[in-house]
Amino acid sequence: MRPVPVGVAAEILARGGVVAFPTETVYGLGAIAADDAAVRRVFAIKGRPASHPLIVHVADADAVARFAAAVPEAARRLADRFWPGPLTLVLRRRADVSMLITGGQDTVAVRVPSHPVALSLIKACGDGLVGPSANRFGCVSPTTPDHVFHEFGDGVPVVDGGPCRVGIESTIIDLSGARARLLRPGIIDARAIEEILGEELAGPAGGAPRVPGSLASHYAPHTPVRLWPAAELALEAQRRMARGEKVAILATGRVVVPPGCLCYLLPRERDTVAQQLYGALRLLDEGHCDVILAEALPDAGEWAGIHDRLRRACAEAR
Ligand code: TXA
Ligand code: MG
Repeated sequence: MRPVPVGVAAEILARGGVVAFPTETVYGLGAIAADDAAVRRVFAIKGRPASHPLIVHVADADAVARFAAAVPEAARRLADRFWPGPLTLVLRRRADVSMLITGGQDTVAVRVPSHPVALSLIKACGDGLVGPSANRFGCVSPTTPDHVFHEFGDGVPVVDGGPCRVGIESTIIDLSGARARLLRPGIIDARAIEEILGEELAGPAGGAPRVPGSLASHYAPHTPVRLWPAAELALEAQRRMARGEKVAILATGRVVVPPGCLCYLLPRERDTVAQQLYGALRLLDEGHCDVILAEALPDAGEWAGIHDRLRRACAEAR
């Protein structure tokens, strides 16, 4: 691995390079937002289609004005309450924001991360940084420097900020239309947003996926994942093992694990599950099992972000 200090990372970025940097959610693949060649490199390294827009990470809410044409009152209120933190706002873009970042759309996604290393890197660069999750397109997001190394080897220098505190990607709210929309659930749940906005959020609109995370196949390990009710997990594992399958289980500690299963047990505590989810999927993936049976967790309320990622990890077509 090539861990680099923030100062060195800022120099690499200033020269048009790409570095992976920690945020409180997941590690990002950073490049200076105003540098088209560097942004192109990010797409190439990730293997991400150009139509999938990137989030711009800025140091504070004032810096949003450099990318957004207007900052509506709703955005100001959410920023006051949740920034720095795991919330991304989609706003109408300024005309001079590169189409590369926005995937050709008339909106731009911005967020102020709370990780101190991310903030000092952005400040050292004096400009917004694009930061898609530092994983190959469609794969599980990295929550430690080792995960990033596993994705890109020595090809991408990493700023080591330790394991990510939140563990799943930011909540995305689209404020560019008449009505606020939830585009991607996260650790900040819909109710907390609605309380600040004083209105109900609309769901994602139909049509082409503007959020790659909204492709059914996103966030998937190589091993097939199946969601199963906790009460039937052990039985299903035994059934499959009797057929000669090698089985891994991901559950929240209320499950009796049949002998011979690879297993990752988490305490049934929402924040801990989020924090460890991607690391657990990566670890179980390395067991080269025929299937990962994952406990079906609640699909609404404060668990919505976790459920969303697990469901996408299950999608077959990649
Ligand atoms: O927590 C996070 O958001 C992490 C960390 C590194 O900040 N970043 C992240 O980036 O998850 P990425 O590229 O993996 O996911 C960004 C999401 C994508 O689903 C993208 O489509 C959506 O944000 N997005 C970006 N710009 C958008 C826009 N203008 N309209 C709608 N969605 C947008
Ligand atoms: Mg991603």
